[in-house]
Amino acid sequence: MPVTPASTVPNVTLNNGVQVPQLGFGVFQVPPEETQRIVEDALEAGYRHIDTAAAYRNEAAVGAAIAASGIPRADIFLTTKLRNGEQGTAREAFRNSRRELGVDYVDLYLIHWPVPSRNLFNEAWKVMESLHADGEIRAIGVSNFLADHLDTLLQSAEVVPAVNQFELHPTFQQPELAAKSRTLGIAVEAYSPLGQGADLNAGAVTSTADKHNISPARVILAWHLAQGTIVIPKSANSGRMRDNLAAVDVVLSPSEINAIAALEAGARIGSDPAVAAHSQM
Ligand code: A2P
Repeated sequence: MPVTPASTVPNVTLNNGVQVPQLGFGVFQVPPEETQRIVEDALEAGYRHIDTAAAYRNEAAVGAAIAASGIPRADIFLTTKLRNGEQGTAREAFRNSRRELGVDYVDLYLIHWPVPSRNLFNEAWKVMESLHADGEIRAIGVSNFLADHLDTLLQSAEVVPAVNQFELHPTFQQPELAAKSRTLGIAVEAYSPLGQGADLNAGAVTSTADKHNISPARVILAWHLAQGTIVIPKSANSGRMRDNLAAVDVVLSPSEINAIAALEAGARIGSDPAVAAHSQM
């Protein structure tokens, strides 16, 4: 299978001018012992944007894959996230992530969950602003922030988050949250963009895939890309990694895009950020 050159993945320009490849590779639920091989495969396939988190416990393996690839650090966009239980010690948590990853800087650092019950995310954000000012992080953002969490953060924030990463796929789109984020200048990044595989069998997806003679995964990813959303699909299989990357070449018609949007079903897979407080995350 031909290697998709990294240059064909479009960049999204964040609100501070930093550019991020719109199609990246996520390693949520990738076991630490398999992560190095899988990330090496993803880099080989052409991915230049890798999304991990301290909570995934695979940062060291991500770092090892980047080092083994020989790809210049500056050519890779690397995201990691602040664990919930460490919002009160964000500076130490960040430094630990950076050490695990074996890098001098991180491209994007996100507050993983708001955990409103602990009321610590504004304090963590202040620390992230300072690390950003020092050049240790190129862009700072949030994950799983609902509208009221964004409002609370912006009451005291000096830096507007560059990104809000949240669950977004055809059967769970959170359109109001996406619109609000965009209005604030916050780029929308979809996690579980394929609905962890559950949305691949939806009728509008498979019929569009048949019409274009491409995989359902490519259809869903092209649908995200058409809306300007950053996506981080994961796959343990190098053939499917390459298949997903080729979504950048797919152009859907407005009616195809609308048919996929009509799959909205409120089908959340992950936790509800309004109440989620898992400290190990
Ligand atoms: P696998 O790792 O075996 O490829 P999400 O990114 O929404 O979390 O979805 C990830 C899930 O979707 C994984 O179970 C992954 O399985 C599957 N997946 C990823 N890419 C494809 C693809 N191109 N075709 C079919 N399944 C895919």
